[in-house]
Amino acid sequence: MKSALVINGPNLNLLGQREPGIYGSLSLAELEEQCRAWGRGLELDVECRQSNHEGMLLDWLHAARCSFIVLNGGAYSHTSVALRDAVAGISVPVFEVHLSNVFAREEFRHHSHLSPVSRGVICGLGPLGYRLALQAGAELCL
Ligand code: DQA
Repeated sequence: MKSALVINGPNLNLLGQREPGIYGSLSLAELEEQCRAWGRGLELDVECRQSNHEGMLLDWLHAARCSFIVLNGGAYSHTSVALRDAVAGISVPVFEVHLSNVFAREEFRHHSHLSPVSRGVICGLGPLGYRLALQAGAELCL
């Protein structure tokens, strides 16, 4: 059975309360439950984690032994060369996801260090982006 690790980065623990006009009303727990349910429909074992700590995200990427990773790096996507190097340094494919359309927002969100080293990028589709990333990984990754 294929497996996926869904990693949410900084501030995403606040989903549902944080700027709901931008990020929606779903809580992180609800989003993670949806990801696991979508995984069941795709015959995919889905594990979800969230951390506000950059080093923790790196450790999880290094240790990942799954078919692929869905990563919402939050603000670290725009700032962290270390997170980019971790994604580039592992053989597990990473799909970068953002709930909001980062290109329709402040200019500092228009660049992601992760995009050039990711297998694919989805943004602006809310939770649907996670479902599409899981579907893409299930179809494209071994
Ligand atoms: C985000 C977009 C980032 O710019 C922001 O810093 C986040 C969330 C998104 O899911 O839309 O924390 O990754």
